Parts: sequence; structure tokens; C-alpha cells
Amino acid sequence: MSKILITGGAGYIGSHTIVDLIENNFTNLISVDNFSNSSKDTFDRIKEITGKDVKNYNVDLCNLEQTEKIFEENRDISGIIHFAAYKAVGESVEKPLKYYHNNIESLVNMLKLAKKYNVPNIIFSSSCSVYGNIDKLPVTEDTPLPKAESPYAYTKQIGERMLQDFLKISPNQKAIALRYFNPVGAHPTGKLGEMPIGVPNNLVPFITQTAIGIREKLTIFGNDYPTKDGTCIRDYIHVSDIAHAHVLALQKLMNDKNFPQYDVINLGTGNGVSVKKVVDAFEKVTGKKLNYEYGPRRPGDAVAIYANNQKAIKVLNWTPKYNLNDMMLSAWKWEKNLQQANVN
Ligand code: UFG
Repeated sequence: MSKILITGGAGYIGSHTIVDLIENNFTNLISVDNFSNSSKDTFDRIKEITGKDVKNYNVDLCNLEQTEKIFEENRDISGIIHFAAYKAVGESVEKPLKYYHNNIESLVNMLKLAKKYNVPNIIFSSSCSVYGNIDKLPVTEDTPLPKAESPYAYTKQIGERMLQDFLKISPNQKAIALRYFNPVGAHPTGKLGEMPIGVPNNLVPFITQTAIGIREKLTIFGNDYPTKDGTCIRDYIHVSDIAHAHVLALQKLMNDKNFPQYDVINLGTGNGVSVKKVVDAFEKVTGKKLNYEYGPRRPGDAVAIYANNQKAIKVLNWTPKYNLNDMMLSAWKWEKNLQQANVN
């Protein structure tokens, strides 16, 4: 069985993808993660779920020399799933160079080494943020990309462009860029999930931390948007569904000789759901009353964005399995598990 390299394997989506890869008989995996935004425990959690140890290299991908050592030691890598990147939109506005340096440099290094060591298949983590503030919904992959709204989003646009330029001079490589909408939830066992460092920026970790008493109350940013209930609309998608799409994308690249050298695919459920609806779903499935209030709009938030996901369904034969209730329940299970782990 050929070897698959996962960068950012201890991260939120990376770790769920490792579990799904193992469950689909990709057992020869290596991870590179320097734990800049993740925890070493993640690999214990992966082992608890799958029974497998995954070797991780604690290496900064911006360090070409150290990264190359991984490829020298592992000559039989047949696929790279490149998750590792900084991902906070707000922080990227405050610290643009941090984002340009890390997200771009690491991808440059990965591509250099993919070519030098003949790795044929590459999956790249992109984001629906590449679409910016868009009016025409749902969003399809052929929507022309506007000027990026944040340095983070720009690093994803540049990453996609870099891949295309790289592939033009690399006939032995193929790649798929997956554009994630809003990944939420946790592994159905509640043993693996998102581990935000400090105060969470994202909605669902903020909800679960409020419900468990770490935060006093959730502020819903704006209820005066032109939507049914006045709150913003997003396409929330279960992290395990996102993870499985990576396995399907990798299999597609490996097995379908007629597949184009480069493609880009949206990963969302196709359903636009308001912030208020997320809160309602959380309260319904957990039976917990959430302390929340309406506050002012958050600068930079789009009113509404959700995916046309037909391409993923057709091309990858992918169907999202989990609904909003599953997303809330698994996120809650994970939050309770984390609390227990901290107490013991
Ligand atoms: N929200 C609140 N209160 C909070 C946190 C969020 O009301 O405490 C609202 C936001 O205003 C937004 C919705 O919940 O309307 C979702 O916000 P998130 O921060 O969870 O997600 P975003 O849609 O802003 O951002 C996500 C990812 C980014 C990605 C972006 C693409 O976090 O990495 O989608 O649009 F780039």
C-alpha cells in the first residue's frame, strides 16, 4: 500500500481525514504537523478510534531542508493532502505577512518536493472564502473569483493559482483543490473535534463553550440582515463529511486515468442555514437553553453564502451523510468529552 502524506494531520480537518483514510484501508500514513495550532494528544485520539499509530514529523513546512528529510526517508509517497495553513480570517487582516509567509511558503515547498520526489497526487485545502461577498447563490465552482476580501482568502486564491501554474510544467502530477464551506461538528464518537486555542472565532465552538460554561454568553453578530430571521446564512457541513470527500478525491486521482490534471470542487451541503437556526438546532438536540444575545454586525461578514455541491456529488460520488442536528450533537459530545479530560 502506497504512502500518503498528510500535512496538518493534528488539525481539525486533517485528523478527521486520517481517521477516514484508515477506515478506507489507507493504512500507510505519515503526518507533518508542528502543533502551531493543534495538540499532540490528537494522535492518541486517532489511535483510540482506529487502533492505529500514525507517525508525525514535528516539522515546520516553511523549512525546506527539514521537510525534504521527510521525503528522503519516505521514498514511496503517492499522495499529499495539504491541510497545513493558518486559517483565521480576522487574524490574517491584522497579521498579513504571517499568513503570506506561512501559507504560501509551505505550499511552494510541498510542490517543489512533490516534483523532486515524484509524488503524483495532490489534494489542496481551499475555502469558500475565495468567492468573497457573492450575490449569485448557490455558488458554483466556475464563478469568477473576485478580489479577495482578506489576506487569508488571498492565500487560498494564490494557492489554487500556484497549483495550476505548477501543473503546466509538471505532467506527472495531478491535483484537486477542495473549497470547504463551514466545517463544524466532531467525530460521531465525540473523541475527536475542533480544539480552538483561546477564545473561539467560529460560531459552533463558541456555542458549545457557552453551553458548558466556559463563556458567559454567545453574541449573535447582527439580526438586521436581509434574511428571514435577520441573521447571516452559511453552509455548515459536518467535518466527517468533509474528511470523507478527501478520501474520495484521492481515490479519484489515483484510479481514474481520464480525470483532468486539475480540478476544483465545492464541499458544502447546499443548504443555507441562519445563525439563529444553528442556535435553535443546538438547543433542540441537546435540550440545553443557550445564553445568547443579539449584538452588532461583525465587520467583514457576508450576508449569505452556500454551495452548489452538484459537482462533488457527480464527480466524487460523494453525499453528505450528516444533518445539522448531527453536527450539533457531535460538537456537544466532543465539548463534554474535553471537559471530562480536563477534570481528570
Ligand atoms: N457568529 C456569531 N457569533 C459568534 C461567531 C460567529 O454570530 O460568536 C456568526 C458569524 O457572524 C457568521 C456565522 O456565525 O454569520 C459563522 O461564522 P464563523 O466565524 O463560524 O464562520 P465564517 O463563515 O465567518 O468563516 C468560515 C471559516 C473561514 C472561512 C470562511 C469562508 O471560519 O475559515 O468561513 O467564508 F474562510
